[in-house]
Amino acid sequence: MDQKILEDMYAEVESEFQRKTYPEGFPALPDLPAARYFDPDFYRLEMDHVFHKTWLCVGHASQLPRAGAFRLFEQFDKSIILSRGHDDRIRAFRNTCRHRGAALITEPAGVAKRFICPYHAWGFSLEGELKSVPEAHNFACLDKAEKPLFQIRCETWHGFIFINFDQQAAPLADFLGPLNTQIDDFPIDDMVVKRVLDVEIDCNWKTAYDNFLEIYHVNTVHAKTLSPYLESRSFTVSLFEGGHARFVTRKRGGQSFFSAGHDEATPDDFTTRFKDHVFALPCFPNSFTALDPVGFNWQTFWPKGPNKMVMSNMFMGWKRDDEEDRAFWETMLQNQKTVLAEDIGLFPTIQRSYREGDIRDVMLSVQEQFLYWYNEEIDRKIGAENLPAGMAIPQILGPHIRK
Ligand code: FES
Ligand SMILES: [Fe+2]
Repeated sequence: MDQKILEDMYAEVESEFQRKTYPEGFPALPDLPAARYFDPDFYRLEMDHVFHKTWLCVGHASQLPRAGAFRLFEQFDKSIILSRGHDDRIRAFRNTCRHRGAALITEPAGVAKRFICPYHAWGFSLEGELKSVPEAHNFACLDKAEKPLFQIRCETWHGFIFINFDQQAAPLADFLGPLNTQIDDFPIDDMVVKRVLDVEIDCNWKTAYDNFLEIYHVNTVHAKTLSPYLESRSFTVSLFEGGHARFVTRKRGGQSFFSAGHDEATPDDFTTRFKDHVFALPCFPNSFTALDPVGFNWQTFWPKGPNKMVMSNMFMGWKRDDEEDRAFWETMLQNQKTVLAEDIGLFPTIQRSYREGDIRDVMLSVQEQFLYWYNEEIDRKIGAENLPAGMAIPQILGPHIRK
């Protein structure tokens, strides 16, 4: 990271730490209508205009270690095959046979030479071509070249796999542009997935996502776990174009809850900014991660109906696999689960309040500004003309984004 940007960032964190009044020049945030969190029509609009048209992080290249490796991505009623072909490229296909639509793959992950349909045994290559059809002479006009698997846009960013259902979407690199300079001195390409953990929760996907986008709750909810390690008053938000952002928080004593006692897990040559600060990167629409040199959790928040969601946790660590590393990851996973459990119990209570109309307007502080920012982006994606009456929020944070 550029020295000037770094110095500005440290100065900003210090000034945020000292701030005692509402920041001058920053607008008062209007309330968010609670109906955005349970209304079925609004949910449908989010599916159509956000989840079907935006780049979504669905996994990591290390989960497909060699040609023939495949995994299923199954969230929000989708079933997608992620496959590494003989050319080493990762592709995404709809998990549907081109004959009469049976699911080709039924196990969550594996290694295959071909995808053979379990119904009438049509066979497809790892690259998606239709290769074999039993009793092909019984089809009057079958041209195998016309029946490849349906492919979906699939690109990677430092090993993270993204898909997009919109064939016309701009390239992933453009979409994630603002986040690039944030990780240029974090050796993120050397990381692999150590563990995964999916948790289904009775709440809207945004109710859960919101929790990870502010630090305001940390001193109460995580009083004994995260709070002693974080100067939460130093929490600094930089809003980026596209509904993304960067959060920087100073660590207390340069330690993190997750690294405590396990610093040997960190590669030696780490830029100090990651040792004395937590850099978190929320990525529109539903990803969040807080980078940590010992390893970190890349989270995605998946809708499963207006009042249900799945929180996916992908724990990223360094490419090594020895006894010490395995022991570290056992402890790490327990620590992560402890902290997540402190949060998760709250979500259904919040959802109930929204859904039952106990609270109709959601009030936000300046530390919660990113909740407003990504909701603004949702509205931009849906389009003003499509938004139901009383559901839109005023677009006010544009002038406050970081170029
Ligand atoms: S549905 Fe796949 S071969 Fe018939
Ligand atoms: Fe939390």
